Amino acid sequence: MGKIHPPEYFKQKYAVDEVQYTCDIAKVLSAKSPSVLLTLRGVNTDSGSVCREASFEGISQFSVNNTLLHPEIVECRVFKTDMELEVLRYTNRISSEAHKEVMKAARIGMKEYELESVFLNYCYARGGMRHSSYTCICGSGDNSSVLHYGHAGAPNDKTLVDGDMCLFDMGGEYYCYGSDITCSFPANGKFTADQRAIYEAVLKSSRAVMNAVKPGVLWPDMHRLAERVILEELTKTGILKGNVEDMIKAHMGAVFMPHGLGHFLGIDVHDVGGYPEGVDRIDLPGLKSLRTARALQERMVLTIEPGVYFIDHVLDQALANPAQSCFINSQVLQRFRGFGGVRIEDDIAVTANGMELLTCVPRTVDEIEAFMAEAKDQGKTFSQVVLSQQL
Ligand code: GLY
Ligand code: MN
Ligand code: MN
Repeated sequence: MGKIHPPEYFKQKYAVDEVQYTCDIAKVLSAKSPSVLLTLRGVNTDSGSVCREASFEGISQFSVNNTLLHPEIVECRVFKTDMELEVLRYTNRISSEAHKEVMKAARIGMKEYELESVFLNYCYARGGMRHSSYTCICGSGDNSSVLHYGHAGAPNDKTLVDGDMCLFDMGGEYYCYGSDITCSFPANGKFTADQRAIYEAVLKSSRAVMNAVKPGVLWPDMHRLAERVILEELTKTGILKGNVEDMIKAHMGAVFMPHGLGHFLGIDVHDVGGYPEGVDRIDLPGLKSLRTARALQERMVLTIEPGVYFIDHVLDQALANPAQSCFINSQVLQRFRGFGGVRIEDDIAVTANGMELLTCVPRTVDEIEAFMAEAKDQGKTFSQVVLSQQL
């Protein structure tokens, strides 16, 4: 176990007022004669998990309330302090650099997991980030349309082939605070015309939301805005036809983006506080997947992560539904079967007048192509240098 630190050590480390040994807790508390002890129990509205309150031997001698504290703590977690924002800036800075390493290292013939390991290695070696916020999603080709690819049943084990889009969703964690970033790029570093069209549709959607975000804005309205831009852009590509207003009424947005626009981020990657009392989930395609329906306020931290995916069974359902198939040009759509998907995911903090972008990676098509071309010219990536030093 090594050295057992004295209470003073923990008092300094965690900047708390008082530290006592757990074996003394009943004695210490009864000397203070509290009218009530508040313990933390409640449902996480995102995961549905119940957080169970702490207990100790002798607690039955106190009056205990285990319901008051939970909503208060949840609200504390929704609004980040300056120090919390600093940590989230850090997780984003290091994770952004790690994503850039992955883009530099990507080559046809590599396994998806090789790139996952480049990311994890960079976060730990350069950022001291031992853990990642969630299991890395490293989808290439058709796998990039699998929203939570990378799990044990599909462990990022496909080989990258020429013509694949890559969708890499990865975030490092530092002192329990997460990051959640997705970069989408062509495996060979050069977008085809179709890849460019889909990518730019998603980027336009992301940037439209970023321009609109400010205190007072309702998050479901941001989701609707993201969907609208995507539908307009897919109409320009010829995949969709008809009137965008009518498409919205027919819920066409959820055919191509079957997830919510984004979520709170903090100690949990899908952080708490999305649905406090009085805020209800909207039971409509797409909107029902939102992890919050709140109005934005300063110091909230969220992801903005629009995407367009070509998922066979979702497309087949839409084609079989006359209310939706009337908007689809099925011949053009056929060309996109097997394309996979594009997601662009950034982390932001809401400020007094708008937002602060925490993520910093190449985002436009030109930036990505130039960055990947430069990496190929320069040759070695950080990971290759580290590995050759180790060998
Ligand atoms: N990485 C999970 C998500 O984007 O929500
Ligand atoms: Mn993500
Ligand atoms: Mn996310």
